[in-house]
Amino acid sequence: MPSALSPAAALAVIDAIRQHFAQRLAQKLETPALTAELAKVLTLLENVDFTQPDAAHLRATRHPVITQLKSLAAAKMDDAILAACLPHLARLPWRYSYDARADHPGLETRMAWAELVGPIAPFKSQRVCLGLTAIGPHTLYPAHIHPAVETYLVLSGTARWAMNDLAQTHPPGTLILHPSNVVHVMQTDTEPLLAAYAWTGDVKTLSHYLERDG
Ligand SMILES: [Fe+2]
Repeated sequence: MPSALSPAAALAVIDAIRQHFAQRLAQKLETPALTAELAKVLTLLENVDFTQPDAAHLRATRHPVITQLKSLAAAKMDDAILAACLPHLARLPWRYSYDARADHPGLETRMAWAELVGPIAPFKSQRVCLGLTAIGPHTLYPAHIHPAVETYLVLSGTARWAMNDLAQTHPPGTLILHPSNVVHVMQTDTEPLLAAYAWTGDVKTLSHYLERDG
């Protein structure tokens, strides 16, 4: 059993994501909507108490998605966020919060997220979530919606991302904004996907899977 994630290791991942978001804002290259959302995420994170981690959410969960990420362990470490999180992949609090689906057998073992800031996370916030999403190769994250506004930063893995039936391939470094209650889908190819994510707005209502896969 891997040891628990240390608060310092969790904070290093959070800080690397915050610094990346701040750098992207400073570059002034993002759309107005992404610019506003990145600024909102950073402002909300300023109000999180990072001095009182909840140890219950720093325990390793042994989620099987870890085995989907083995090729990431050999990924280049020249990105500050990857450098902060790759050494701790097995210790992150990966979880998958939805029922298994008969039409997507094994999805609950091939996809998970490790929330580091949020209502159910080592660092508590009811207004912003920050964490990592992992999806194994050749996996469809089916069509879903949620009221929270969602920002993704692709860290590793080039996948197909679709929103409102518009599909695009996004390589590492891409920022993706999913507005509130907009249908979106991800489909990995040969590579696993590792991405940082942030939620703002209604961060307590979970995703709702649609009947179709968009
Ligand atoms: Fe989403």
